[in-house]
Amino acid sequence: MTITIGEGTCGIAAGARDVANMLGQRFPDAHMRSVSCMGMCHQEPLIEITNPDGKSFLYGKVNKKNLPKIVHFHRGEGELPVGNFIRSTDQPETEKWSYMGNQTRIALRNVGHLNPTSISEARARGSYQAIENILQGGICPEAVLEEVKISKLRGRGGAGFLTATKWGFARSAPGYPKYLVCNGDEGDPGAFMDRSLLEGDPHSVLEGMLIAAYAIGASKGYAYIRAEYPLAVRYFGKAIEDARAAGYLGEFIMGTDFSFDIKIKEGAGAFVCGEETALLASIEGQRGMPRIRPPFPAIQGLFGKPTIINNVETLANLPWILKNGGKVYAAIGTEKSKGTKVFALAGAVMHGGLVEVPMGMTIERVINEIGGGSASSRPIKAVQLGGPSGGCIPSSLFNTIIDYEAINATGAIMGSGGMVVMDSQSCMVDIARYFLDFTQVESCGKCTFCRIGTLRMKEILSKICGGRGTMEDLEILEDLAPQIKDASLCGLGQTAPNPVLTTLKYFREEYLAHVLDHRCPGGVCKALITHTINQKECTGCTICKRYCPAECITGELKKPETWFINQELCINCGMCKEVCNPEAVMVESLGLKAAHSQPARASA
Ligand SMILES: Cc1cc2nc3c(=O)[nH]c(=O)nc-3n(C[C@H](O)[C@H](O)[C@H](O)COP(=O)(O)O)c2cc1C
Ligand code: SF4
Ligand code: SF4
Repeated sequence: MTITIGEGTCGIAAGARDVANMLGQRFPDAHMRSVSCMGMCHQEPLIEITNPDGKSFLYGKVNKKNLPKIVHFHRGEGELPVGNFIRSTDQPETEKWSYMGNQTRIALRNVGHLNPTSISEARARGSYQAIENILQGGICPEAVLEEVKISKLRGRGGAGFLTATKWGFARSAPGYPKYLVCNGDEGDPGAFMDRSLLEGDPHSVLEGMLIAAYAIGASKGYAYIRAEYPLAVRYFGKAIEDARAAGYLGEFIMGTDFSFDIKIKEGAGAFVCGEETALLASIEGQRGMPRIRPPFPAIQGLFGKPTIINNVETLANLPWILKNGGKVYAAIGTEKSKGTKVFALAGAVMHGGLVEVPMGMTIERVINEIGGGSASSRPIKAVQLGGPSGGCIPSSLFNTIIDYEAINATGAIMGSGGMVVMDSQSCMVDIARYFLDFTQVESCGKCTFCRIGTLRMKEILSKICGGRGTMEDLEILEDLAPQIKDASLCGLGQTAPNPVLTTLKYFREEYLAHVLDHRCPGGVCKALITHTINQKECTGCTICKRYCPAECITGELKKPETWFINQELCINCGMCKEVCNPEAVMVESLGLKAAHSQPARASA
């Protein structure tokens, strides 16, 4: 029997290690395999049990309580545990499996299928075959570059620049040595695609670096991985060691005159360090601040030498492209956006996790067919794409396809792949404020408009969320946004106003509700909402009272009619709603006008 456990960061956080230990005790003779995230983050901890007859069964949300039933079944003593069952070799197409079944996995082809610390498992799944074919087959760098050109692969780090075109600049640039840098900084809130790749399949990223380095003529490489990803740093470090020992890294690789080696540089979690010139400064030991381009790094990059910076997902696609051919890759997707795109699907969606889909799929299909629709059964109203540089696309535009140009046309951007779904209980002004707050804090401060402009925008948004906004504030936001975009040196400032602009464009009525009616339609902005006890649903159990940090709830045990919240003391933290049956605590935003015409709230 083989037991495979998903032990990516998400699985470990959900308790996979405990489940692995318990299974190890129950089946001491089983071969225990640790893989990374199997992609269904909403089903963690995930285990796959392969019986001695070769039949395998995948289970989700495994814990101490439901594990005995799984154990009984595999001992032949009980029924299939339906609640945890996802898929078996007998029953491959199940409702739960539609999450994975609707995906096309190229970059993520190995993630969740192999032990990331084992080079032999990686090789068994085809790793290093592409670079072996290139080096042993005497395929020249120009031919490699040509294959990538045919694939029309665009960089997955956000801007979507054609990879082969960028490589061409570095290849023909004078200067020695040349550098190849893997950008694993991934600072966007809500994004975890690159972490999952580095944790789950480091050898494919490393092989992608080898292919890119060979094509541009680089002999030195850096993997810039954020220090907050300790598993990714560790697994990538192990992959480098093993690849070096196997002769894939170092001097005269596989007896050819191609030499290339890689060092890891840990980033300290500054979002701006993902910007390529800031990232290079950080590797050089300087403060991570962007610089004016040109010269572009492809001509004058790390230590003044030609340098290519590629995103993790871009690199993970390369071995597949070189093995299957650029034409096969280019056959997937839309006219201008080829191949697949990985998304980190999160927020108010039933099935969150890692999703890889062919370009051209609609947002609607990603959210509803793969994501399973709303997690709360409240209507979904928007999706935030592209993190702080992106924007909010309203549900009326969910027929937009995944394609760089189509998404840009909405005012959002594809970005690196964060996809955060929002339902009707989200406040779009608050969302804009959240992203503005992020970019403002992360601004390196070099440009006045980015440093001060984002601060002013944030102050205005806070004012609006606090019920103190005016119509003039909306005008100032719209006036300031293009100035920040135009006067900023790097992509951070150039895109920082996007969440504000898209929410103002598509959800203006929510801004007006805050400003004119002092009402928050999503029921989020603390200054504009009230929490009250719904005595029809209250059972008088006292749990809200015990958890309330403001000690403002009063009532007698099992006497619902006596339960009240003192509105003067309540800080609207939401704890009472969280700990109780949600129906028993009402959140309302009646607005100033409405509130003035209401009878005064009871307070005890
Ligand atoms: C503020 C800022 C943060 C960025 N963060 C990342 C990042 O975390 N990872 C990444 O690959 N690219 C990031 N980028 C884009 C990179 O600067 C660069 O375009 C990308 O790494 C190039 O790789 P690609 O051609 O493979 O997309 C960021 C850009 C900006 C302006
Ligand atoms: S735009 Fe912002 S983050 Fe970028 S260089 Fe200017 S101040 Fe720094
Ligand atoms: S919202 Fe927070 S402060 Fe107000 S009653 Fe509930 S728990 Fe107490």
